[in-house]
Amino acid sequence: MLNASTTAARLLKRSALRPTLAIVLGSGFHSLVDSINTVTEVSYADLPGFSRTRIDGHCGKVVFGHFGGVPVILLCGRAHYYEGYSMAEITFPIRVLAELGVRSVLLTNAAGGIHPRFRAGDFMFLTDHINLMGANPLRGELSSGKTCFLDLSKIYDDDLNQLLQKAAREAKVRLSSGVYVAVSGPTYETPAEIRAFAKLGGHAIGMSTVPEAIVGRQCGLKIAGLSCITNLAAGRNKKPLSHAEVLAMGVRVQDQVLELLVRFIRLYSKTPLASR
Ligand code: HPA
Repeated sequence: MLNASTTAARLLKRSALRPTLAIVLGSGFHSLVDSINTVTEVSYADLPGFSRTRIDGHCGKVVFGHFGGVPVILLCGRAHYYEGYSMAEITFPIRVLAELGVRSVLLTNAAGGIHPRFRAGDFMFLTDHINLMGANPLRGELSSGKTCFLDLSKIYDDDLNQLLQKAAREAKVRLSSGVYVAVSGPTYETPAEIRAFAKLGGHAIGMSTVPEAIVGRQCGLKIAGLSCITNLAAGRNKKPLSHAEVLAMGVRVQDQVLELLVRFIRLYSKTPLASR
């Protein structure tokens, strides 16, 4: 397997900025990249071990820059398990972030709303997850030198979640908490599956984030997850689900995404979490 420190060294040569916060932009969150004060950007194609996503709405570059003077790394786009990549491939960028000295990672995603309280366009921060992807990114990692028998009882960080809640109050954005169900995709679910996942305790459903969160915890990173509920999950809406609908909602919420995340970044910069 490729060495994350080699790829990190390449990035460190390209940018003198040393952010402690990184944000992975999923579907619905890409507008953030238009507002960052960019210092350096590097295409995933120039980074050994980074996989190129072929999904519309994911651009595929690492951006080092500032929001209101606060240094941040944006990972614009992610490779997905359903594209055929391995768990090791889709989580490689998280290992690189850890090697760069990043301490906290916000993983963003588009998700379908399972819980009846959700309307399309709402936001949810993750308090926990249910991994139904059928795979675990730490399988086969026994000799990596890091433990794979990780305690996941607090996988999503309380301090970061509090900052998200405060940012949402300031930005007047509807933000709930909930449990994210991760599936492999690429099909959307059946209504019967969604009813079953609701009974299991899931509030929203998506096809990413969980492998990155697990690897991030293995690397000692603080992790938060933020979903944009781009659609109601299967069976909760009469319309058939489509990726176009997911992307269209991403465009509709872009002002809210910006308001929420810029405030989150500013609040983060005022906490001890921001120092190295
Ligand atoms: N199901 C799974 N993944 C998703 C959905 C959904 O309804 N919406 C956005 N990503």
